[in-house]
Order: sequence, then C-alpha cells, then structure tokens
Amino acid sequence: MYFNRYVKANICLILNLILKSLLSTLTNLMHLSQSLINWYSQNKRPLPWRETRDPYKIWLSEVILQQTRVAQGTDYYHRFLVAFPDVHSLAAADEQDVLKLWQGLGYYSRARNMHYTAKEVVEKHNSIFPDSSAGLKKLKGIGDYTAAAIASICFDEPTAVLDGNVARVISRLYATDTPVDSNEGKKTITDLAKSLLDTNHPGTFNQAVMELGALVCTPKSPACNTCPLSFACEALKRNQIEKFPNKTPKKSPTIRHLNYLVISFTKDKDEFILMRKRTGNDIWKNMYDFPCLESKDASDPKDILDTCVKSGLLGEFPFVVRHVSDEYIHQLSHRRLLARFIRIEVKGVPMLHDNITAVRKNLIAELPLPRLVDRYLATLI
Ligand code: ADE
Repeated sequence: MYFNRYVKANICLILNLILKSLLSTLTNLMHLSQSLINWYSQNKRPLPWRETRDPYKIWLSEVILQQTRVAQGTDYYHRFLVAFPDVHSLAAADEQDVLKLWQGLGYYSRARNMHYTAKEVVEKHNSIFPDSSAGLKKLKGIGDYTAAAIASICFDEPTAVLDGNVARVISRLYATDTPVDSNEGKKTITDLAKSLLDTNHPGTFNQAVMELGALVCTPKSPACNTCPLSFACEALKRNQIEKFPNKTPKKSPTIRHLNYLVISFTKDKDEFILMRKRTGNDIWKNMYDFPCLESKDASDPKDILDTCVKSGLLGEFPFVVRHVSDEYIHQLSHRRLLARFIRIEVKGVPMLHDNITAVRKNLIAELPLPRLVDRYLATLI
C-alpha cells in the first residue's frame, strides 16, 4: 500500500519535471523566435522583393540572392523585371537576351534554368507556380533552399530555409560541431531551424534569420552586442563565436589555363572578330568568348601561336600578332581561370567552322559575354 503510494508520487513528480522541462523548452523557443521577429520588424532593410508575395518575383529574388550580395543583386532584380515582368514574358524570351541581362552576375546556369522553368510553368502548369515546396522542387533549378523560401514567403508553408546565413546563425546559437556543409550538419541545422520556426509566420521568420545573418551575425566581427539572440547564444557564452560555423576544409581550386586567340580581320572597311559560342556541359554554356587553346600548364604564347597556325584557324593568310596580354585571373567557385589573350590581325577573311562566327567589333557588346571576356574587351581599342 505504502509502496504503491510512494511509486505513484514519484511517477507524478517525474511527469511533472518532464512537463516543466518541455514547457520551459517551448517557452525558450517561442521567446527566441519572437525576439528574432521583433528585431526583424524594426531592422529589416526595405528591399523591393519584401513588398510582394508574387511567386515569380520571389523566385527571381531568391535565385539572384543565392550567389550575389543584396547591393549588386537589387539592380539586376529591377532590370530583369522591366524586361520580363512576369512568367509569360520570361517564357517567351530568347535565351540570349536572358543571358545578356544576367551578364556580370556569374553562375549563368541560374539564368538558363529560370528560362527553362518559366517555359515549363507556362506550358505544363497553366502559368501558375506550384504552391508547395514539394511541387516547386520538381522544377529545374529549384532546390531545397529556393523551394522553402518561395513556399514559406508566398504560401505560408511552415518550412525552414537553410542557406549560409541561416547555417551561421543556428550553428553559433547552439554551438553545433558537425560541419555545416556535410549532410549530417545540414540536417542538424535544418532540424534546429525547424524547432525555432514560427509556424504562423514562416516566411517572416525565415527572412528574419537570413537578415540577422546578413546584418548582425556576420562571418567576421559579428555585432553580438546588438543581437536579439545573444541572451541564448551558446557560442557567445563560450566566447567562441569565431569558431562557428564549423566547415570542412576547402580543397584548393583547380586551375585552368585559357589561351585565347583574339583574331580580327577587315572586310568592307569593317573590323570583325572571331567569336566562339560555348556549347557542351562546361562553364558559360551558350555565351560567347574567343577561340581558345586550353592547356594543362602555363604555355609560352609562341607555342600557342604555332598550334593556332597549324590548326588552320587563320587560313593561309599573312597575319600580325598585335598584342599579348598579361595573365588575367578569374576566380570561379571551385576553379581558378588563368587567361591570356593573343591579339592577331589576319590579312584576309579566315574560314569559319563549328561554333566560330565573325562578329562586327561594334556588335560584340550585344552578345552574352562572361565577365572575363568583358574585362578584356574593355581594354581593346
Ligand atoms: N538572402 C536570400 N534571400 C533573402 C531574404 N529573403 N531575406 C534576407 N536575406 C536573404
């Protein structure tokens, strides 16, 4: 009898403790997300895509912001919407025009995928974007991040976004050790972000975490003294802010040596330059650069010229080497390009083949060009 009462009392006590602990965790989480949303409402930047819930515009802004800073991305966002105000106009566009508008932003597959997906939305979805992250993820170029951002901002789906800013904020808040770029680390951060998510305002919550990462919880010298989450930040408590987020060490970038042949000739008093349309599954697909001899190591320009002559690109005509540029360094995400431009003037009209076309010099700027090529062209007189 006494034993029974004793057991019951203890069970009650334990249940009580569990309940209290659950309640306290819940209160803490609500306190955290409320602090964050209050901070956001007072400190968010007045950005153009924050005034809309149109999935087309949110999609565009999120795709731009994936690899681009707000300051640079905002101009592109406006110009893109002037040219293509809705999914119909983008679907009907020429890919060259889409790439030209994207010129300078880099990661051009983003523009090609947007164009492809706009056509799919118009043709297969009656011009209406899917209203769930699962539906959105079926579209080309829309991955976990973009789908969660669009679904939460436009359709109130309670899905947490995970980008670099979110990973930094959450990994510091909880001092998570697993590298944030590993699958396990991504899952840990996403689960923690989900537990914090304000399910009544998922879009606002997601944007608030990203904004905090962009403005306060920055990679270097974070402003912890103004952070609305500092009271609960485990990394700050341990005085180890700079230690988080933990990332797997980066591999050194592969180097590619591009030896560009800038071949010009005159016809009917107009100067032409040979341009190459890039195809295949390499960088800058469907954009234009010059005929190129790529080498494993740095090459002597004389050897490059020899190979160029033997290739028949210059025909049988006399030619003059006008200039050999210094080496240009162009950094991509996982690759470093080292490029040299050899300017050759041919005294005749060379034969064109494959994807090489002759373009009037004053019309080159109308083609979609990688920044590296644009940088070189700016030096051409
Ligand atoms: N970075 C990318 N998307 C963002 C958004 N919607 N708000 C704040 N920062 C972002």
